[in-house]
Amino acid sequence: MTSRLRSHIPLPALGLFPGAVMMLGVFMLLTPFPSSAEYGDVVINKRAEQAGMRPVIFPHWFHRIRFRCRVCHTEVGFEIRAGSNNILMADIIEGRFCGKCHNNKIAWGPQNCQLCHSGLPGLESGVIGGPTTGGPSKW
Ligand code: HEC
Ligand code: HEC
Ligand code: HEC
Repeated sequence: MTSRLRSHIPLPALGLFPGAVMMLGVFMLLTPFPSSAEYGDVVINKRAEQAGMRPVIFPHWFHRIRFRCRVCHTEVGFEIRAGSNNILMADIIEGRFCGKCHNNKIAWGPQNCQLCHSGLPGLESGVIGGPTTGGPSKW
């Protein structure tokens, strides 16, 4: 998150405005996102942690820019509300939900536990962030 933000700011411009650099620093310190997730990610932790796995971080935007909404929300069958899907690991391994693509063909397979179960312990199901951007355009 931090490095991405920085990479969008032309460095010479920052050099001219030390005040802006400080404000940016303060902004970054105040940014409430946990380091394990970025804006718009969906935390899925209905069962994972209870079952001894770390919460799942689903990078929604990473997927949204690659697939049309209906691929997942019609064809794969994901309900369109965070926390509303009942997903068992057996379903995924059998090719449902995430496993429709994470099958070692379309994308890497379900053996890569830590790539999905990457959330910090204690994260609750829900969307990280909200409908408005937390980015620099806000101030
Ligand atoms: C492609 C993403 C993905 C991968 C890879 C993955 N999981 Fe999951 N897993 C999920 C999702 C999504 C859930 C649902 C989480 C929830 O609702 O809390 C889940 C749930 C679980 C659960 C709790 C539900 C149940 O069926 O008991 C366990 C245990 C689990 N995973 C273990 C594993 C293990 C072990 C691996 C590696 C062998 C693994 N997962 C790999 C996405 C993944
Ligand atoms: C690769 C699959 C995939 C694609 C593509 C996808 N979504 Fe999602 N979407 C999900 C999953 C998984 C969830 C979380 C469901 C849960 O928590 O049970 C979700 C959650 C949501 C939510 C509720 C969380 C939030 O951010 O408010 C909305 C709204 C949503 N999707 C809209 C869209 C739209 C609009 C598109 C297309 C631009 C889209 N989705 C594309 C899989 C996808
Ligand atoms: C419609 C197909 C599709 C579905 C459904 C899908 N994914 Fe993916 N996912 C992909 C593809 C394609 C990639 C990119 C794989 C690569 O780079 O090799 C990816 C990458 C990822 C990544 C890595 C993102 C990164 O920054 O590299 C994670 C984490 C992930 N998926 C989790 C999930 C979880 C969890 C679910 C279910 C809730 C899910 N995906 C459902 C297609 C899908």
